[in-house]
Amino acid sequence: MNTRTMKRNITNLFFVLCVLCVAEHIECYRILAAIVTPSYSHQIPFRRLWLELHKRGHEVVFITTDPIPNINSPNFTQIDIGHAYKAVGTLNFVQMRFNGKQWLQLMQENFMIRTYFMEYIFNNTEFKKMYAPDSDTKFDIFLTEYSCRLAAVGIAHRFNVPIIGLSSLGLASWDEHVLGGVVLPSHESTWEMGANAGPNLPFLKRLWNFVSLWRYLHFLYTEYVPINQQLAEKYLGPLPPLIDIMKNKTSMVFINQAIAITPARPRFANAISFTSSHIQKKLPPLPKDLQEFVDGAENGFIYFSLGSNAKSSDLPVEIRRVFCDVFAMLPYRIVWKYEKDLPGKPDNVYTAKWLPQQTLLAHPNVKLFMYQGGLQSSEEAIHFGVPVLGFAIFADQDYQVGRMEALGVGKSLEITTVTKEELESSIIELITNKEYKERMINTRNIIEDTPYDIVKNLAWWTEYVIRTKGAPHLRSSIAFQPWYQRYNLDVIVFLTIVIFLIASSTLYLIAKLFVQLHRQITQPQKLKTN
Ligand SMILES: *[C@@H]1O[C@H](CO)[C@@H](O)[C@H](O)[C@H]1NC(C)=O
Ligand SMILES: *[C@@H]1O[C@H](CO)[C@@H](O)[C@H](O)[C@H]1NC(C)=O
Ligand SMILES: *[C@@H]1O[C@H](CO)[C@@H](O)[C@H](O)[C@H]1NC(C)=O
Repeated sequence: MNTRTMKRNITNLFFVLCVLCVAEHIECYRILAAIVTPSYSHQIPFRRLWLELHKRGHEVVFITTDPIPNINSPNFTQIDIGHAYKAVGTLNFVQMRFNGKQWLQLMQENFMIRTYFMEYIFNNTEFKKMYAPDSDTKFDIFLTEYSCRLAAVGIAHRFNVPIIGLSSLGLASWDEHVLGGVVLPSHESTWEMGANAGPNLPFLKRLWNFVSLWRYLHFLYTEYVPINQQLAEKYLGPLPPLIDIMKNKTSMVFINQAIAITPARPRFANAISFTSSHIQKKLPPLPKDLQEFVDGAENGFIYFSLGSNAKSSDLPVEIRRVFCDVFAMLPYRIVWKYEKDLPGKPDNVYTAKWLPQQTLLAHPNVKLFMYQGGLQSSEEAIHFGVPVLGFAIFADQDYQVGRMEALGVGKSLEITTVTKEELESSIIELITNKEYKERMINTRNIIEDTPYDIVKNLAWWTEYVIRTKGAPHLRSSIAFQPWYQRYNLDVIVFLTIVIFLIASSTLYLIAKLFVQLHRQITQPQKLKTN
């Protein structure tokens, strides 16, 4: 072989290797993911992402309260912490609504519950083996739920990996503040303020919002953070401040929030919004009797569900009566997710403990979706083009039903005070006025007009963060600025003092001058009269 052919062969070999690299360009990464909140609606927005990452050849270890069924792959390990449901099993959200508590107040009173969730991860036998000091388990990235679940970031420190924060609804203001975003107490994008936030609020209302949101954030910094630090250190040993880990290691946040539903707001460069990823392409069939019930609904049917966390059967008897009496008068059939036997159930009502929601919303006879305002349910209503009547129960639901109303695709009523008259007239209006459905379909067209598959996009960014060693160039240095520098408060205070001093000394001089002039005018006269 002469040198020329050898050179050519080497070039060819190099070429083949390059093609192989491009075709097989993805390396296999080891991905650790955790969603600790025992709530179906926190889990489902991300399910397709885990499956997509696995499909791309990565190894996934997923800690979850709701394992994805029917997965048998050596490269997809699910760590089941479903017993965390015990921590919320006793919460009665419907009753809390009737007790009239504000959401921030409830969060403050029940914040220890969120901390307990974290304990289920750390204390898991299987996961303990992975993070034990002598373990040689390695990961390339950690994806974990934010919305104030701080202790988990200790895990990223243990494995020395970048973090992608996940939020199954709009990012909480506290996470926003830690990561260098803007806190907007009165802007209509701040879901935590429920019905209090909105456009063009009067001064006193904005003052109230400002004080209550910042007081809550202060509470989290002073009470919630130390408890999380203690918890993480109990299992992982001494750690740097968790807040610093969160700031230094958060490479990106994936936020389940459609900008077409939520008013646009400033976002950091490493935040990615997505929506409706949980909508099923293949819908599960309905049970036979239910299929017949909805097929036979000549005037159409209404689907009514308060979601997976709140139970219709917890409603007080007089409110249940209101619903039953109105349903009995309507020409429509009603499918109601009701968890117990319903005494005095009208003939046109079908109840069941659990219902295949998306299949019902996709049915051609469905006229209206009465619901609690859950974000995923809102996304489903939009996807299937069904107008909504919202009865908010807790968390972001007040906010979501308000948004549906603002978009003109639904109405909302207060479940604690609802009357027969308003319930009946709202239902009739939503079903007979076709504009609600038209606007719903228009909203869907806007949301679904995207240049790429949203889940593949999230998977791409996940790989990108690993490839770029944490994408430090996308992080904002604002996160590291002290609070007074962040909003230029020191400058504003300084300038206010300077302006005050200049104004007051000018006034003083002018006053002095006047007194002097006055004296000069009056004194000669005095001299004369003397
Ligand atoms: C699991 O991942 C390894 C590489 O980490 C790969 O060789 C193997 O084919 C994968 N197995 C499956 C079933 O995907
Ligand atoms: C941790 O798990 C062990 C058993 O695996 C159990 O005995 C212990 O009570 C758990 N601790 C906490 C705080 O949950
Ligand atoms: C975070 O980053 C800052 C600045 O780069 C550094 O001074 C600090 O030690 C880091 N802290 C942790 C806990 O990584």
